[in-house]
Amino acid sequence: MFTNLTRSFHLSSSIHSTILKHTSSVRLSSSLSKIHELALSDPPDDPQNDEWNLNIAHLLTHHLNLPSNQFTKILNKSYPPSPSLNATSFFEDLEKLKNNEPIQYILGTWDFHILENILCESPVLIPRPETEELVELLLKDIHEGKECKVLDIGTGTGCIGLSVLCSLPNIKMYGVEPASAAYNLSSRNIAKFKNQFKPNSSYVKIYNCGISELEDIMSFDYIITNPPYIPSSDMKGLKLNVLDYEDHAALEGGQDGLKVINDIFEYVKKVRKLNGNVKVFGEGDVGHPEVLKGRVEGRVEGIKDFRGMERFFVVSYE
Ligand SMILES: C[S@@+](CC[C@H](N)C(=O)[O-])C[C@H]1O[C@@H](n2cnc3c(N)ncnc32)[C@H](O)[C@@H]1O
Repeated sequence: MFTNLTRSFHLSSSIHSTILKHTSSVRLSSSLSKIHELALSDPPDDPQNDEWNLNIAHLLTHHLNLPSNQFTKILNKSYPPSPSLNATSFFEDLEKLKNNEPIQYILGTWDFHILENILCESPVLIPRPETEELVELLLKDIHEGKECKVLDIGTGTGCIGLSVLCSLPNIKMYGVEPASAAYNLSSRNIAKFKNQFKPNSSYVKIYNCGISELEDIMSFDYIITNPPYIPSSDMKGLKLNVLDYEDHAALEGGQDGLKVINDIFEYVKKVRKLNGNVKVFGEGDVGHPEVLKGRVEGRVEGIKDFRGMERFFVVSYE
């Protein structure tokens, strides 16, 4: 049964006309596959947006109240036997998608690494798949059960630190985040996931400041970071759904993309006075690991992501 198809609508004029256009078709067809086709046939104007099929399937999965593991079925147009869909809110959200609003912000949650439904809100950076690989690099390095103090620089949603805490016991996590929207969202995500932390793992605190302002110097075993690293001149080449909705301060790393990364290694120097063996796992732009080899003390290893881009750097000092 499709519900709410005959409700009266009190919406903005463009959405109103879109829904009226669509609901009349829906009444004629009364079928989910028709709604799906209708949505697919109406992509946004941004020619760079090549993810329309995926986004529509995510939106339908959400509005059908299905768990995210049913997404592939919806993508393949295999529908539940008795679907229930609120057409009004589905077409409202479709309108947002057409205006390039990222699907993660529309849904309000996204899956990242081990975390199901981490909260996502504009303008806090949406967790990216390559960052899941960065988390994996760190997890592989920590001997299971070892007690570790870890610092996540630029927490955003909190996705990196929370994935580590939900994967390993005996971790004490600290974060640094200057943007208040991100600081608040990561605090809410900590509350959401804390009952999934492994034994004796905890999020100790997030400092609401930039790394160059952090006065507490501690003996961290690991520093992990996905900082802003896009060179200023590359910003205008980003997709509209990024440029219009995500915080530019979460993305832009100054002229060469290395502004915050340089600040991070200034902080590392201070940590090394307490723990000479701290190890740094970071994500940067292609070419950054190579630049760091000539710039920082310690052994720098560059690692490729799943797209074959060398963007991860691991710096060790043993
Ligand atoms: C690319 S986002 C990464 C967010 C999150 N860690 C993730 O991977 O999804 C970079 C984050 O660093 C924060 N940031 C910006 N300048 C910073 C600075 N000077 N020190 C620490 N964090 C900073 C931004 O506010 C943003 O949340």
